[in-house]
Amino acid sequence: MQIAQLSEHLGQEVILKGWVSNKRKGKGLAFLLLRDGSGFTQCVVDANNVSDKNMELALDLSLESAVIVKGSVVKDDRQVGGYELSVKEIELIHQSEEYPISNKEHGVDFLMQNRHLWLRSKKQWAKMRIRNTIIYGIHSYFQQKGFVQMDAPLFTANACEGTTTLFHTDFYGEEAFLSQSGQLYGEAMAMAMGKIYTFGPTFRAEKSKTRRHLSEFWMIEPEMAFYDLEMNMDLIEDFMRFLVRRVVECCKEELALIGRDIDSLIKSDAVFPRLTYTDAVSILRGEKEVNGLSSLKVLEEDLTNAKSKLESNLSEIEEREANIAKGGLKKGVVNFNKNKIANLSAENKVLEEACRNIPSWIVSAKSFKEGEDFGGSDETVLTRLFETPIMVYNWPKGIKAFYMKECEEDARFVKGVDVLAPEGYGEIVGGAERENKLEILQSKIKEHELSEEDFKWYLDLRRYGSVPHAGFGIGLERFVAWMTGSKHVRETIPFPRMYGNLMP
Ligand code: 4AD
Ligand code: MG
Repeated sequence: MQIAQLSEHLGQEVILKGWVSNKRKGKGLAFLLLRDGSGFTQCVVDANNVSDKNMELALDLSLESAVIVKGSVVKDDRQVGGYELSVKEIELIHQSEEYPISNKEHGVDFLMQNRHLWLRSKKQWAKMRIRNTIIYGIHSYFQQKGFVQMDAPLFTANACEGTTTLFHTDFYGEEAFLSQSGQLYGEAMAMAMGKIYTFGPTFRAEKSKTRRHLSEFWMIEPEMAFYDLEMNMDLIEDFMRFLVRRVVECCKEELALIGRDIDSLIKSDAVFPRLTYTDAVSILRGEKEVNGLSSLKVLEEDLTNAKSKLESNLSEIEEREANIAKGGLKKGVVNFNKNKIANLSAENKVLEEACRNIPSWIVSAKSFKEGEDFGGSDETVLTRLFETPIMVYNWPKGIKAFYMKECEEDARFVKGVDVLAPEGYGEIVGGAERENKLEILQSKIKEHELSEEDFKWYLDLRRYGSVPHAGFGIGLERFVAWMTGSKHVRETIPFPRMYGNLMP
């Protein structure tokens, strides 16, 4: 019996096994917020209903103590999940030592050091459940469509995504790398199976501390024989919209717990605009409008709005503080005001950040040079005018990987596609139609200063039955960050590995 099943047992006596996540006391009453992994529910311990010993035990319980409770299920719409337990008996399994994480605000550094415990907190619990729903959704989607799941090796001799972000390791005295991507192996498998997808950890050694970078992240890489760029983009869009729907349908409770704006997720389940890189550059620089709007003008408006909201929040805070200082208010009214002040201050932090960032975003967007790759802020500016993800295709070949197919109409560009998510989440998917001509691929390997010897086996794929094919890679944590509205990818994976973070 689990908390998630309480609704099926209304009025019945049930037994729950879990941990005390929060506790309040009243006269002859203890309210335990019990969590058991499947959910959270309030357990009401009333001195009139339990033995004296049990009442004493309930009042003494420390946070995160493990208990078994017996009681009857009562409907109460005010409670999380809509039900609570009227307790008859409690058994103590373990009285917890003083728990380091309280309901007070903790700094992120402290929480990250206690990641092994932080995972029990409500919001982290919700995020991990959403991650799980997404993982299951990914497998369902591809399995239903006849894709074969394959596991690519993690020790590799090939630099798939450039040589600058490799983790070096020793493989019986031979130099090897931790895989940056399973794609090259996926291509081989696609020639055997038709349509495949990998689902595994990948490694990038960039020493960057941005909110989008992990050293170890999970990537899903489908690869399809006889697919061109357009078919690839159709699949990406269908797949991503399927996942968004899944999350919205299956994770209502979790999304509500973390305060994710569901409307913006629902809106993103619509046609994804497709733009060439060249058009994207014009939009970024404010030279080209989208539905009569210029990205830079909208950002300037955002800045003006942020500034005036900040001002009005500050004066409201001042007013409320003055009221409290005057004295003579009831305790409830004081608390109400204090609460408002805390919320306004939190909102102001976000607004201050926007006021700091937007001016520099505008400057760098205006001065963006054609041929360069988009930075994080460029992606935010570019997606500002869209409610769905956008697909940017036909990239300058100088900034993309060696395996991407050159455009027939203009060999300065390659048939790559990046999907950029809205609300500042940026690149979530990278994909391409692959170069299928042996000679071109050989010369691209040289251009990228890679050793042809290392890619001998890969080139065989262009010798024996070479066909047009395409695929993409989606970063699981970036997708989860978007769905959960997490500012930083570190909260979207149980134990993040990042530059400067190896413990716990
Ligand atoms: O754009 P990337 O580097 O593409 C590839 O690796 C291709 N081999 C994929 C393919 O065509 N089969 O990475 C794909 C995605 C990115 O869009 C991003 O979502 C994620 O992987 N990603 C990262 N996520 C977290 N931390 C990092 N350091 C990431 N680097 C890439
Ligand atoms: Mg990329």
